[in-house]
Amino acid sequence: MKIYRVGNYEALSEMGADIVAEQIRQKPDSVLGFATGSSPVGVYKNLIKMGLDFSRVTSFNLDEYYPMKKNHPQSYNYFMRENLFKHINILQENINIPNGECGDPLAECADYDQKLAAFGGTDLQILGIGRNGHIGFNEPDGKLPLATQLVDLTKDTIDANARFFDHAGEVPKQALTMGLGGIFASKHIVLLINGGNKAAITKALLSGFVTTQIPASLLTLHHHVTLIVDRDAASLL
Ligand code: GLP
Repeated sequence: MKIYRVGNYEALSEMGADIVAEQIRQKPDSVLGFATGSSPVGVYKNLIKMGLDFSRVTSFNLDEYYPMKKNHPQSYNYFMRENLFKHINILQENINIPNGECGDPLAECADYDQKLAAFGGTDLQILGIGRNGHIGFNEPDGKLPLATQLVDLTKDTIDANARFFDHAGEVPKQALTMGLGGIFASKHIVLLINGGNKAAITKALLSGFVTTQIPASLLTLHHHVTLIVDRDAASLL
């Protein structure tokens, strides 16, 4: 894992966007893995400003709440549209996000993995981290799924994400998430960590041990991970 410490969220966002931009310049038909959450929003803002050509890019998002309507303001589908897709020239048919409206989650997950595998995984995967160490919605557990799955969210994640909903009771209790296999199939993973509330998990992630109780710690086993961490998140290192 290559670790870059930067001063603040702006610097992290610029660096993340530069890596994505270089990827698209090198390979205009790149397959990009996108994440939601506050961590990558600055990267997306910079990508929009750069005016890059996304017309040949294919995207796969990590996860979506379940059940969740695509047009719900808290859906990840809506998030991606508002924060990135409607501002760039990516083709609608090249956008892949797990479908929170599907009637058969098992079939949806299998289709998602099949499609991702047909592309040979992503060329570059943007990742954030939950404060409990989750990646996508792969929550701390004794075992972690390889395949895309319907998973139960932990209380910590529901509480952390409640800030986006009117009240905690509205946060879906389940989600569809790419599994560790899909994430690890990426050729290059860019992990973005910012803010003092991520300092403890950043320290745990880099402890020199791997554990499924900190899903992100497994990323230290991947051959090409770039971690960009800001000063606040790195404060306990
Ligand atoms: C959600 C998403 C994750 C994201 C995490 C952290 O639970 N499923 O993919 O990494 O939140 O979000 P934030 O970047 O807002 O801290």
